Formats: sequence, structure tokens, C-alpha cells
Amino acid sequence: MISVFGSVNMDLTFQLRSLPSVGETVLTPGFSEAVGGKGANQAIAAVRDGAATRFTGCLGDDAFGAQVRAALQAEGIDLAALATVAGKTALASIWVDEGGDNMIAVASGANAMVTSEALSPSTLNEETLVVLQMEVPVVEIEAVIAKAKQAGARVLLNLAPALPIAIGALKQLDILVLNEHEAGTLCAQLELAAATPDEQLAALTGQLDASVIITLGAAGVVARHQGETYQAPALAIKPVDTTGAGDCFVGVFAAGLDAGLSFDAALSRAAVAGSLACTVVGAMPSFPTRDRIDEAIASGA
Ligand code: RIB
Repeated sequence: MISVFGSVNMDLTFQLRSLPSVGETVLTPGFSEAVGGKGANQAIAAVRDGAATRFTGCLGDDAFGAQVRAALQAEGIDLAALATVAGKTALASIWVDEGGDNMIAVASGANAMVTSEALSPSTLNEETLVVLQMEVPVVEIEAVIAKAKQAGARVLLNLAPALPIAIGALKQLDILVLNEHEAGTLCAQLELAAATPDEQLAALTGQLDASVIITLGAAGVVARHQGETYQAPALAIKPVDTTGAGDCFVGVFAAGLDAGLSFDAALSRAAVAGSLACTVVGAMPSFPTRDRIDEAIASGA
């Protein structure tokens, strides 16, 4: 069972010719809306790859909240711990340019109300893989890590965005997933001299007990697990929108481990899924099903 604890947003995505510079106004014919938030995205990616998935988070009691809940329900995610509180559902404004690059601003809204108490200890055991990201209060993330480890669960943290977190919490992780930028930020926070992904992997695994994965966009992923170095390529695709590709990677990687795949096999499968997520506009609308991932692995496209 995968237990995702984290953020859930409504994503409003604007496709633009180019991203505006400071003080500039750019026009576009319309926008698309979909469920987003790194937590909800990771839960959706995992459930689409066939994993039994629970999501703990917080929605506002507004129209977006009702819309998001219905969409998550339709995916088949266990929402027993998804609360609705007075106030606004988190909202992400996402700008995507013609090259697929993006800028994102998130108004946290109800995400700021998520508490570790919402994650019931009775749902945590050795069979649980707890998945976290950094868009809800860090103090609650640290509390969930401690609670999950106490119950014997495995814990994966996706340090996105790369906000400061207690070293004591990082030292309890089983798996840490970062992109290149986040790896650089964390190494700087920990005062580790490391410039390249290989150096960052060595520095971080030297400091933490966790397996560490660094996602490199079109260059795939590199990882260090139980003293071995692994890499997995991305698919050769033309990116349309990279939003949520990292979330798709995390959800599918977690689903792979939950299904009993080796670290290496889960890494390769997730790298393929993350690539597929760049071929469609939006985060959750771009996440592949299990069959689509299998097909891409078989055909290489
Ligand atoms: O990682 C992509 C996600 O970041 C988007 O869905 C947006 O909501 C922000 O949280």
C-alpha cells in the first residue's frame, strides 16, 4: 500500500508563446484546469500504475474543492483521510511556453492546514510506503516521517520544492528523490561540496542512510542504492509540457517498489513514465496508465 501525504491543488495552466518577463503582459486564448499539487499528482501516478493508494491532504470548502475530490475519487484513490476545511483549495497558476518549459506559483490555501494527526497510525505498517513532498508545512512532514518510521513503514521524500528540513528527519528516510536544482540546494544547505550529479549522489549518500535518486530531465535519472550506482534513460520525446513529470516519476517509482520490482526495475519504469508525462499538456492529464507504460517499455516510444 502506498500512503501519500501532501498537497492537492487546482491547476490552471496557461499555454504561452513565451514566458513573460518582469512587467510584461502576454495574451493566450484560454487555459485548462485539472487536479494538481505534487502530493495528489504522485497519488494519481501511483494508482494509474496499479498501486493501492491512499491520500492524506486538505481541500477547501469551495467549488474547486468539490471538483478536485470528485476527480480523485474517480481515479480510485482511498480518500478517507482527505479533509475538507473552511477556506480555499490551493491554487496553482502554471505558465508553459512553446518549448515545454514552465513557471509555477502556488497559493497554498488549505494545504497549510494539513496535519500529521490526519495520518492514522493504524494505516501504517511494514507493508506501507509513505510518500511525501514539500508543499505542506515542513513541521508536519517531519512528524509524519517520525510516525511512519516508528510504525515500521518505508518513507520516500521528494524534496520538491527544496525547502529546509531537519537533518534528523532526512536521516530517517529510506529514499530521497530530487531534481538537479534541488540536489544543489540541499548540498548547499548541508554544506556539502558537490557540483555534478555524481558528486551530489556521493555526498548525500555519505551523509544520509537513504537511497538517493536525482532526476535529470531529458538525461534520465541517476541513483545510489545500497552502495551501487544506477542510471536509467529517459525516452527520446519532444516535450510539450514538463509540468508534473517529476511527480509522475515518483508515483510510478513508488508503485513499482510496492509491486515488488527491484530498485533498478522500478527506476527504469518510472523514467519511462516521467518521459511520457512530458508529451501532453498538464500534470495529471499527462500521466500514463499501466498499459501505456508497458507499451512504451516494449516499443521504446
Ligand atoms: O509538480 C507539478 C505541480 O506543482 C503542479 O501540479 C502544481 O500544482 C504544483 O504543485
